[in-house]
Amino acid sequence: MVIMFQKGLLACLAGFLACVEAVYLDLNDTASVKNASSLIAGGLMDYYTGLQYGQTIGMFSNPYYWWEAGGAWGCMLDYWYFMENDTYNEIVSQALLYQVGEHKDYVPLNQSTTEGNDDQAFWGIAAMTAAERNFTNPPANKPQWLYLAQAVFNTMALRWDLSSCNGGLRWQIFMWNTGYDYKNSVSNGALFHLAARLARYTGNQSYVDWADRVYEWMYGVGLISNGTEKFVYDGVNIAHNCTGNLTRYQWTYNQGLILSGCAYLYNFTKDDKWGTRTFEFLNSSHVFFNNSVMFESACQGANTCNTDQRSFKAYFSRFLGTTAQLIPETRDQIMTWINTSALAAASSCSGGYDGHTCGINWFYGGWDSMYGLGEQMSALEVIVNTRALDRPPPYNATNGGSSVGDGAAGTEEIPTNLSPLDITAGSKAGAGIITCVVGISILSCALWLIL
Ligand SMILES: *[C@@H]1O[C@H](CO)[C@@H](O)[C@H](O)[C@H]1NC(C)=O
Ligand SMILES: *[C@@H]1O[C@H](CO)[C@@H](O)[C@H](O)[C@H]1NC(C)=O
Ligand SMILES: *[C@@H]1O[C@H](CO)[C@@H](O)[C@H](O)[C@H]1NC(C)=O
Ligand SMILES: *[C@@H]1O[C@H](CO)[C@@H](O)[C@H](O)[C@H]1NC(C)=O
Ligand SMILES: *[C@@H]1O[C@H](CO)[C@@H](O)[C@H](O)[C@H]1NC(C)=O
Ligand SMILES: *[C@@H]1O[C@H](CO)[C@@H](O)[C@H](O)[C@H]1NC(C)=O
Ligand SMILES: *[C@@H]1O[C@H](CO)[C@@H](O)[C@H](O)[C@H]1NC(C)=O
Ligand SMILES: *[C@@H]1O[C@H](CO)[C@@H](O)[C@H](O)[C@H]1NC(C)=O
Ligand SMILES: *[C@@H]1O[C@H](CO)[C@@H](O)[C@H](O)[C@H]1NC(C)=O
Ligand SMILES: *[C@@H]1O[C@H](CO)[C@@H](O)[C@H](O)[C@H]1NC(C)=O
Ligand SMILES: *[C@@H]1O[C@H](CO)[C@@H](O)[C@H](O)[C@H]1NC(C)=O
Ligand SMILES: *[C@@H]1O[C@H](CO)[C@@H](O)[C@H](O)[C@H]1NC(C)=O
Repeated sequence: MVIMFQKGLLACLAGFLACVEAVYLDLNDTASVKNASSLIAGGLMDYYTGLQYGQTIGMFSNPYYWWEAGGAWGCMLDYWYFMENDTYNEIVSQALLYQVGEHKDYVPLNQSTTEGNDDQAFWGIAAMTAAERNFTNPPANKPQWLYLAQAVFNTMALRWDLSSCNGGLRWQIFMWNTGYDYKNSVSNGALFHLAARLARYTGNQSYVDWADRVYEWMYGVGLISNGTEKFVYDGVNIAHNCTGNLTRYQWTYNQGLILSGCAYLYNFTKDDKWGTRTFEFLNSSHVFFNNSVMFESACQGANTCNTDQRSFKAYFSRFLGTTAQLIPETRDQIMTWINTSALAAASSCSGGYDGHTCGINWFYGGWDSMYGLGEQMSALEVIVNTRALDRPPPYNATNGGSSVGDGAAGTEEIPTNLSPLDITAGSKAGAGIITCVVGISILSCALWLIL
């Protein structure tokens, strides 16, 4: 908070004196891309407090929730990979391993009472990226990247909930959290996305079957639209079996999760079904661009994007880059979007006392005085992905990847594997007791029961 406050204050001063130029970016010159992105990555890491006294490794401080840290480490992996710069690798590795949790499935005790499926997924996605990029493997006594991604996938898949809507994941893992009655696209889309990547990495058909199941379910309840254009909507309340109360916000990250998931599946299965879907989502992605510059259409124009939403363009940029790597026919369209957006994003990175604090509005032609971890992540991802086609596509287990996993990771009987079915089967008090017995923190359970 202190850092941010100072940043904002000094940024205003700097803006007033008009003494700061935007980060210089020439896409024809790799050295320029590396220089620009290293400044922006440094700005991102300025928000990382985990190495300071009394702070927690892997976490960014308030107001950045735990999930966004998982997203940010994914960005830093992309920075390393596309810019071929390992300056931050040890910090990234340490962060990813510190937060794995007691059961090595990214449900650490500190988060376990508030964590949602989507939160867990973004750390799992970072681990999957580490595996696919052949990021330095952890020491043998630590969980491996592939194992972690599989544990996240398996624990999520075990929460598949047949008690309503004929399937789907609820947003929340625990019934006391707001959103337990909501089945949303980011949770289900992330399960689909992880299944697709695990399928291609391991070659295990079970993951393809899961991806199919999740996609069909999302389509069936209308989270994936059934019109001339395929859109991904935010979520649906479980009332009346998910009919009648669909929330139709469209977010870039949901589009990206599904688009790139289809691309992984097409690349692996060569099944035309997935190729066609990739192009359907590619085509409908135009709603997030204006003159090929990316924007968060549901909130950016109204200037109402919250802290989380300000990071969504980072994931979309990442998933577009991966799609371009995996399906050659998408490259012209995607690289036009990425390159144009990267130049626009760089022009927004002229704020702050450091002179490379990025804004949210990439049309602005300068810094719009917004700042934060999400803004920094988004600009970084879109700029590093201008090199998506200059670096190898995701490796798999027999073709460059060296991470070791376990198809059964995370499936031991542990609290986070309890499906909502098991919990809702009992009375509410019974469920409370079960949940308490199986762990979480004794204090929060006691509180919950008293309340
Ligand atoms: C890196 O970028 C900054 C800001 O655009 C610029 O001032 C500096 O000269 C660049 N350095 C190199 C080595 O290109
Ligand atoms: C980059 O190269 C392209 C194609 O060679 C050219 O059209 C464009 O003007 C160049 N851009 C800059 C900034 O030099
Ligand atoms: C690597 O990244 C660091 C930190 O971002 C930066 O200081 C350094 O100049 C970069 N190295 C190259 C070769 O770009
Ligand atoms: C959990 O929180 C405690 C107290 O803040 C902290 O010391 C510990 O490092 C945290 N563990 C994780 C995995 O975040
Ligand atoms: C990895 O990809 C190569 C082609 O690039 C393919 O021949 C191989 O079967 C794949 N491995 C797995 C485990 O799917
Ligand atoms: C999608 O629309 C087609 C044609 O209107 C219809 O036949 C099909 O049942 C619809 N599917 C879903 C899941 O609504
Ligand atoms: C619709 O769903 C939202 C979000 O889950 C919920 O807050 C609201 O109460 C629901 N409205 C109706 C009429 O069911
Ligand atoms: C939801 O669908 C299931 C299976 O079709 C049915 O048993 C259940 O009664 C339905 N629930 C509601 C609230 O409509
Ligand atoms: C995507 O758009 C292109 C260009 O408009 C069109 O040719 C193609 O058929 C579309 N693909 C799908 C799957 O909708
Ligand atoms: C899969 O990805 C590789 C690497 O980019 C590419 O060469 C190949 O053409 C892709 N396969 C399909 C079916 O698109
Ligand atoms: C992946 O990492 C392993 C272990 O460090 C190494 O032996 C292998 O050469 C790497 N593969 C690629 C494609 O770089
Ligand atoms: C394939 O994946 C499934 C689902 O995760 C798992 O149960 C199974 O053990 C895996 N098979 C192998 C050979 O890893």
